This record gives sequence, structure tokens and C-alpha cells, in this order.
Amino acid sequence: MLRNDQLDQWDRDSFFHPSTHLGQHARGESPNRIVTGGKGVYIEDRDGKRLLDAFAGLYCVNVGYGRSEITDAIAAQAKELAYYHAYVGHGTEASITLANMIVERAPANMRSVYFGLGGSDANETNVKLVWYYNNVLGRPEKKKIISRWRGYHGSGLITGSLTGLELFHKKFDLPLDRILHTEAPYFLRRPDAGMSEREFSAWCAEKLEEMIQAEGPETVGAFIGEPVLGTGGIVPPPEGYWEAIQPVLKKHDILLIADEVVTGFGRLGSMFGSAHYGITPDIITIAKGLTSAYAPLSGSIISKDVYDVLMRGTDELGPIGHGWTYSAHPIGAAAGIANLKLVDELGLVDNAAEVGGYFRKALADAMKNHSNVAEVRGEGMLAAVELMDDPGARRFFDPAKKVGPSVVGAMAELGVVARAMPQGDIIGFAPPLCLTRAEADEIVSATVEAIGRHL
Ligand SMILES: Cc1ncc(COP(=O)(O)O)c(C=O)c1O
Repeated sequence: MLRNDQLDQWDRDSFFHPSTHLGQHARGESPNRIVTGGKGVYIEDRDGKRLLDAFAGLYCVNVGYGRSEITDAIAAQAKELAYYHAYVGHGTEASITLANMIVERAPANMRSVYFGLGGSDANETNVKLVWYYNNVLGRPEKKKIISRWRGYHGSGLITGSLTGLELFHKKFDLPLDRILHTEAPYFLRRPDAGMSEREFSAWCAEKLEEMIQAEGPETVGAFIGEPVLGTGGIVPPPEGYWEAIQPVLKKHDILLIADEVVTGFGRLGSMFGSAHYGITPDIITIAKGLTSAYAPLSGSIISKDVYDVLMRGTDELGPIGHGWTYSAHPIGAAAGIANLKLVDELGLVDNAAEVGGYFRKALADAMKNHSNVAEVRGEGMLAAVELMDDPGARRFFDPAKKVGPSVVGAMAELGVVARAMPQGDIIGFAPPLCLTRAEADEIVSATVEAIGRHL
């Protein structure tokens, strides 16, 4: 077996890590962690340290670690048929069954699933389909996509453009043309502290209408949004937000893409965030919770109305010119089937609502008298604690102080993994949906202690 110091050296010399400070990593100035195993909500690293993973990897290991129901299904599929493609009408029992299971769980107007590998490529597919759709309808101008500041939709060329976070744009020459960003539905950071939630939602809808009018409604093809802002800060929408936004889109015949990569399959305590908030999307992006990350798989769920237009396109042009070698990979599909069955059998959607509610209340109670806690927020099994220098005056800490990352670092020392969300001092939580109340208490204690060490 390799020694830890050998692995550490190779890691720093040869491994280009995503979302990592490359210089600090290469110079050994930032810690690395080599993860070796996991069971339930816990992971273990090579130093023998056991940590409660309160972010479920990257909010994806929804059923928890070490589920043999899924690993056995993957092994069985790999033995039977590790791969066949999905082009020209080919499929496997696994990919067809999973498509059916997804449509059964999705909102009623949904028809079919295009499978990809991750959330970024699924959103890339969605943008291409919106363009194709409008070309088939004879509206070649209707191509711009409106996203939101602080939205997260991936880090490809188009999807990194859709993402509304500065780190994903700077020095990458993004966002590309055709991608616009409207206001973030982030009540704590509303422009006028006097606004109520409903007033703020109405203001967001007005800003959207202004942008559409300024660009020309005939040039705007789609709007994309996460039901709850995820990487942009874990921010549930203000009251009445989706109610205010959707009529604006309808009025201008603009498609709605609900990016449910985080919220799909139970995280909010509902099967989909769209149902949770009364959203009627035309396209839904899914990934993470589809397989609980036991294998890479994503999907674009397409509504019947959109699919009808795409079919007209292929009647006119021939087969749709979009496909990847690994679309609907049988091993991913087998993982997806076993995962969705497990979500049902273990009642994890209900557990996300019930234990998630308990967790968020315990967190809010523990933080309520802390003078630097601006907000404890969340929905289902998603939560965030936002820290500020002076919450009353909405004054932020100097970002150079790195308050958020320091608190998260202290939590890791205490045995709990949380995530420092970008552009603010925001401690994010998205534990596996199987979290128990006792485990929730463990997260709350570590958060209190870690914040106490720094503030
Ligand atoms: C809402 C949302 N969309 C898309 C993505 C991109 O997914 P991936 O990292 O699998 O490409 C993410 C990833 O965190 C996400 O949170």
C-alpha cells in the first residue's frame, strides 16, 4: 500500500483539482484530504479521521454512503452489460426503466428524459434545445437566456456563463453573448431594507420585465433558475417570487428551465422543487440526487409541448444532432433505479422535511443571540448561516478576513464537514437526506463551537 506522504506528493504534483487554489495546493500551503470510505452520513479519511459530512459530498450523496443496494445494482449491471449506446433508438432495460421512473415522479406536463453525465452538460443540452425549438418555430432571433446573479448552473462555456458568480467568469472571458443575468432573489441583500418579501418579489419581477423589454421580447428564449438558490448562498425564494416571475415569462412566450440539480428527488422535502413552489417548468435539469452520485448521470426532462416541437424539427431535418457516447450509460441508469427505489423505501423525502425542519430550527435556536448571525435560512434538508460584521446595518466582514472559510475549517477539525459558500460569509449545509435528529444535533454543536472560536 502506498504511503500517505507519497500520495500527498503525487497529489500536489500531478492532480489538477477542480475549484481549488492551484498555487496553494501545489506549494503544500492548503490542506488536502484523501477520503477512503463512508457509511451513512459519515466519511473517513486516510489519517483515520471520521467526519460527519453535512454537505453530502457536493449536495449529492442523498441516500448516504455505503448503500449496498446501489453498489450491488452497479456490479450486476457491469457484469451483465457494462455499456451500450443510446443512439438511433438503442437502449437498455435500465435506461428505459429509469426514464419511466423519472417521468412518473416529475410534474404532470413532463414527457421525456434526455440523459447526460452531470449537471453542466444537462444545462448545455437545455440551451441547445431552446435554440433548436425556436428555430423550428421560425423565431431565429429568440435565443437569449436570462439567468440570475448568484444562480449556479455549471462551469462549461454556456453553463459557466449562466452561472452568476464572479469567480466563474473572471479571466475565462465569460459570460458569452446571449446570456443575461437578472436580480438574485436574495431577500437579505434586497436593495431597500424597508421592502417586505412580497414587495421584493414584485420588484424582482419588474426588473425581469424591464430587462425583457430592453432586449426585445422577441430575442429572449428562456429563463433559467434554481427553485432555491444553491451555490449562490442557499437562499429560498422570497414569498411570492415564483408566483410573480412566471406570468412575466408566459406573457412573452419565454420557456422556463427549472434547474433541479440540487432540489430534485427530495432535498426540499418534496420530490421536486417545482412542485414545492408551484413552478410549471418547460424543462427540468436533474443530476446529483438522481443516483446519489454513486455513478455520474444527469438528465433534461422535457415537457410534452416542447417535445412536440422538437419532433416537428426532426420530421423536417432528420435525427436530432445532439448526443454523447455516454448518454444513458447503463451503469448510471442501474444506479439511478436502485437509488430512487431506496429513496422511496426509506421514506427519505419525508425525512428531509421532518429532520430537515428539526435541524434548521435547532440551528436557528442555537444562533439566535449571536451578534454576527444575520440569518439562519433554508428549506427541507438545506440550510445556511450567514455571518456579518453588523447584521443590523447589513455590514459585511472584509472578505480578506475569510470568516466563512475559517469557521468551516474549524468545523472540520471538530469532525463536521460544512461548505463555505462563495461571495459572502455563508456556512452551507446539505446533509444526506437520511440524517437523524442526533446527527443534526452533532452538526449544530460543531457550528456553535466553530463560530465561537472565530467570532
Ligand atoms: C443547480 C446546479 N446546476 C448545475 C450544476 C452543475 O452540475 P455538475 O457539477 O454536475 O456539472 C450544479 C452543481 O453543483 C448545480 O448545483
